[in-house]
Amino acid sequence: MCGIVGYIGDKRAQPILFNCLKRLEYRGYDSCGIAVAVSNIEVYKDVLRVEALDKTSPRFDGTIGVGHTRWATHGGPSKLNAHPHLDCTASIAVVHNGVITNFQELRHQLTREGHNFVSETDTEVIPHLIEKYYHGDLEKAVEAALNDIEGSYAIIVLKSGEAGLIAARKDSPLIVGIGDRENYIASDVPAILDYTDRVIYLEDGDIGVVTGRDVKVKKAGTDVTRAEHKVMWTVEEAQKAGYEHFMLKEIHEQPRVIRNTLGEYSRSTESVIDLPAMREGGIESILMIACGTSYHAVLIGKYIVEELLGIPVRVELASEFNYYSHTLARTIAIAVTQSGETADTLKAMRKLSEVGCRVVAITNVVGSTASRIASQTIYTRAGPEISVAATKSFVAQLMVLYWIAMAYSKTDARRIAGLLMELRQLPSRVQQVLDEEAKIMKFAQYLSRFENVFYIGRGINYPVALEGALKLKEISYIHAEGCASGELKHGPFALLGVDTPVIAVVARDSTYEAMLTNIKEIKARGSPVMALAEEGDEIIEELADSVITVPQVDTLFSPVVNVVALQLLAYYAAKERGCSIDFPRNLAKSVTVE
Ligand code: AGP
Repeated sequence: MCGIVGYIGDKRAQPILFNCLKRLEYRGYDSCGIAVAVSNIEVYKDVLRVEALDKTSPRFDGTIGVGHTRWATHGGPSKLNAHPHLDCTASIAVVHNGVITNFQELRHQLTREGHNFVSETDTEVIPHLIEKYYHGDLEKAVEAALNDIEGSYAIIVLKSGEAGLIAARKDSPLIVGIGDRENYIASDVPAILDYTDRVIYLEDGDIGVVTGRDVKVKKAGTDVTRAEHKVMWTVEEAQKAGYEHFMLKEIHEQPRVIRNTLGEYSRSTESVIDLPAMREGGIESILMIACGTSYHAVLIGKYIVEELLGIPVRVELASEFNYYSHTLARTIAIAVTQSGETADTLKAMRKLSEVGCRVVAITNVVGSTASRIASQTIYTRAGPEISVAATKSFVAQLMVLYWIAMAYSKTDARRIAGLLMELRQLPSRVQQVLDEEAKIMKFAQYLSRFENVFYIGRGINYPVALEGALKLKEISYIHAEGCASGELKHGPFALLGVDTPVIAVVARDSTYEAMLTNIKEIKARGSPVMALAEEGDEIIEELADSVITVPQVDTLFSPVVNVVALQLLAYYAAKERGCSIDFPRNLAKSVTVE
């Protein structure tokens, strides 16, 4: 969580910092601030969104500066807790993303030594430590300060009178954008896309000295070379392109995302995803780990892989997996994470790697920490996803899981050929769902009046119910619960009634009859039932109070068309309630804390 940025060059830093921060707001947005080196260091920060801070900020003329957009961990959102943080002399400014776990001891020690603290944050110890160790060499002082620190950090240090910014990272992402006689430092690529497509990905333990002319990186006191990469994402991809919200744009991008993934991983009728661990044989089970929406993708992945590969798949929430021991013999692990920076997922990946388990990462972000920990990385081709609510990345993750399953499937060739043909039709099937937008919006307007909603599904569409509920609650703040249809009568039935609509995800597969029975049981308790069903399903039309239809596809692909309809439903319900759709309260896109 939190986005940090730095600029150094010939131009005025302030407008660049604000522009970059606007693009980093998805990482946190409860307060923000900038510091610019003029003759001394000028700081402006407040409990405001970046746009508002920009409008109210005094003008600073310096050409070196740092900025921060915050997701509070230590101390609530306040002007004093907002970054940048300063040392006692107000000549060192630090922006930080991460968590300093030993900050309390450091703070006590520094206080005893005469340092004065003004915020409740863990971050504030950093400028004071740098001040303590500064004897004319900023890089050395930063290095010494970082030696005292335990926890995770990506930091940028600005000191008045210095010709460079210092950037350092450990377990939090940090990149350097290379410009023409100017350089940028940021938490993530979208921040700097307006200025450059050349980046260096800093690695854990790196300390970089960044001037307007060059970038020097050291690790453990030794000079290291970090290769420059060309970014594949474009500025347009990171903009709203006329849509009111990033989420709506990202929902609409899904046909293209599917096509891109097909283009990336298929050659004529064959998948080209190569998993050496699977090819070499000896794998007896697959472990999939993830959090949030990515976890719902792996829950669906379990059905796909078990059906097509016939290998048992164990699915774990990364945040739970990390706290007990496991049997992992002949197991390959697949970690799925859009950002590649989710703390719980990274911790699980490290734990798995340490015990010798091969870990494959499926991630959307090139150079992310997940891609560095994994023994192999498969990239989803979703493009930058800015809205906090994950949409297109989920569908892209499913596409990769389909490909893996099809690539190593032992099922008969005709079934696979049929699936491949259907897969090629999937972008137009998703487009058909998007074409129903106006109708879905009407349902959403009705749904927006309620405070409690159940989503139910069975089989491969049970995780779709979970995902539908997550989407609705995170952006509309309506309490929504995803439930396996068969489980309703084991407790949740007690909550049903006229004020609690139930959204039933119905597929015409082996679960169909049981779903019909469940819908009848629900209706008998007075709850309005809104069904998401295949076109031409007349039984559902008669049974449910209202129906959103989706095109008929193979059951394995039904989560894709169903989830798109539920994304639109959540979006329009949130819009009707006037919510902050792209930046929901209390959340951030990259969850870099445990
Ligand atoms: C869902 O809309 C979320 N914003 C959230 O659940 C997210 O999927 C989760 O934090 C995992 O993120 P990751 O895919 O980047 O690891």
